Amino acid sequence: MIDPEIFLKFLISRRSIRNFQEKPISDKEIDMILEAGRWTPSASNRQPWEFIVIKNKEILKAISKLAGYAKFIEESSVAIAIIGKKKVSPKWCLQDTSLVSMSMMLMAWSLNVGTCWIGNLNREKAKELLKISKDDLLLTVLPFGYIKGKVPQQTYRKDLDKIKREIV
Ligand SMILES: Cc1cc2nc3c(=O)[nH]c(=O)nc-3n(C[C@H](O)[C@H](O)[C@H](O)COP(=O)(O)O)c2cc1C
Repeated sequence: MIDPEIFLKFLISRRSIRNFQEKPISDKEIDMILEAGRWTPSASNRQPWEFIVIKNKEILKAISKLAGYAKFIEESSVAIAIIGKKKVSPKWCLQDTSLVSMSMMLMAWSLNVGTCWIGNLNREKAKELLKISKDDLLLTVLPFGYIKGKVPQQTYRKDLDKIKREIV
């Protein structure tokens, strides 16, 4: 088990990274990120997911255009598309794959690899590009790479007393 204080510090230290070095991340690091995804909990342990590992620069560029021309996707070393198999878990596919994305992001951070959740994405076109079945959910495409420049400043969080309510 990990020391909880250290774990909390680790969680707080994570940032969304939108600047990547050219140097590619290793296959070992990619495998660690995929493993973190694979070991994510899921409703009834259905594991309704598949991952596409994208290293091809042309495809990364095309995805960046489908994400409002987010240049950092094109500049990433690798991106992982997280696919939800709706037929495997019609009710919980979204929740399960969302958890996968967090597992992968945290594993990446532990490896000093940056990433950023991409919400702004033309999913219909991205599904065509990546040959993903119309029946499946394309949750997101996470771009990964070594952090270029300074780690961004901490982002704002609401105070706990503003978001917490107690029932005793
Ligand atoms: C569901 C979701 C969608 C997001 N979509 C985008 C996006 O399309 N483009 C982007 O640059 N960042 C995106 N982000 C990153 C957020 O802007 C970022 O997590 C937030 O500002 C907090 O910053 P932090 O991750 O550094 O703590 C998204 C994050 C989440 C969780």
